[in-house]
Amino acid sequence: MFESIQTAPPDPILGLTEAFKQDSNPDKINLSVGVYQDGNGKTPILATVKEAERRLLTEENSKSYMPIPGDPTYGRLVRELVFGKDHPILSGGRGATAHCPGGTGGLRVAGDYLHKLHPDAAIWLSDPTWANHPAVFTAAGVEVKTYAYRDPATNGLDFGAMLDSLGRIPAGDVALLHASCHNPTGIDPSVEQWSQIGEVLAERGVLPLVDFAYQGFADGIDQDAAGLRALCEKVDQLLVCSSFSKNFSLYRERTGALTLVGATAEQVGKVMSQVKVVIRANYSNPPAHGAAIVAVVLQDEALRADWEVEVAEMRDRINGMRRLFVDRLAAKGVERDFSSIIEQRGMFSFSGLDKDQVAALREKYAIYIVGSGRINVAGMTEANIERLCDAVASVL
Ligand code: LMR
Repeated sequence: MFESIQTAPPDPILGLTEAFKQDSNPDKINLSVGVYQDGNGKTPILATVKEAERRLLTEENSKSYMPIPGDPTYGRLVRELVFGKDHPILSGGRGATAHCPGGTGGLRVAGDYLHKLHPDAAIWLSDPTWANHPAVFTAAGVEVKTYAYRDPATNGLDFGAMLDSLGRIPAGDVALLHASCHNPTGIDPSVEQWSQIGEVLAERGVLPLVDFAYQGFADGIDQDAAGLRALCEKVDQLLVCSSFSKNFSLYRERTGALTLVGATAEQVGKVMSQVKVVIRANYSNPPAHGAAIVAVVLQDEALRADWEVEVAEMRDRINGMRRLFVDRLAAKGVERDFSSIIEQRGMFSFSGLDKDQVAALREKYAIYIVGSGRINVAGMTEANIERLCDAVASVL
């Protein structure tokens, strides 16, 4: 069976971390994978997560299977985080949540559901988007198409072109939107623009699928959900994929969710029954630990407040690094205008570095960034910024 098998290419993001680990250069810098690093270049476990785990160790009393959509309390907490506690979607019972293995797991369950129940639906992704989005939906059998997003001339949002291409999506297709901290560009629509997006999608009969992997990394937990909540005023059906990899730093615990919103409680119940069939045939039911941590933190008032402080610390450090990076490049006489990086939000920025410059950074300086020129700002520290800016100046 295996004689004819050829080696697959490395993953465009995770493959870089494998290469980084093997690099023997003591000054190497990893700005590839979207993982937060503190000022010392470490990815520590959050103190609130440690405390939740300490409690779980003594209080957890069974390792029996989870229900197919996971713990209902976790599902409610996810919906409260996404929509806000008093949102009509919650009081009207119009939302249902499945705990999935990571945000990627949520996306894949959504893809499997779409392929099975809406086989003619294509999914439209922003150009550019997270490198794994096309792979996830293609693997699920869903046709992938793209809509306009970034304006290369300004390194900002080309909202006119975006709205125009969303307005041409055929009814019955799906449009994937990034709730905040767009990956890879860091460029987000304003709340007013989200409203307009919602109007266009509602008018076209296009289902929004909102990928919410960075809640809290732009401006705050509720602030980052404002666009999505504005969208919900215009559409009555949508899918939301949440991830707690970044804001709880739970990367390896694979903690995410798929939330369904229907026009009525009855409708969403039917859709969830189908999603359960999809999950059962995939991983059966979710791994409990990460969701249990999230549930402990979010239900305890003091822990929740501490967690929001921890998220704010991560956010503030990244934003400080954005400014420092732009300032240091300017101080080194780099003429290209990088100032848009300060406006961008979340972990990533689109540097505009081309493939050859990305390759030169890696070969000459052991600096790893994604081939598209995406930089993980969270990998910058005061200790590596000078070397990084010298290297970027030299490849420019
Ligand atoms: C990223 O974009 O780097 C992260 O979302 C991690 C991943 O799985 O690619």
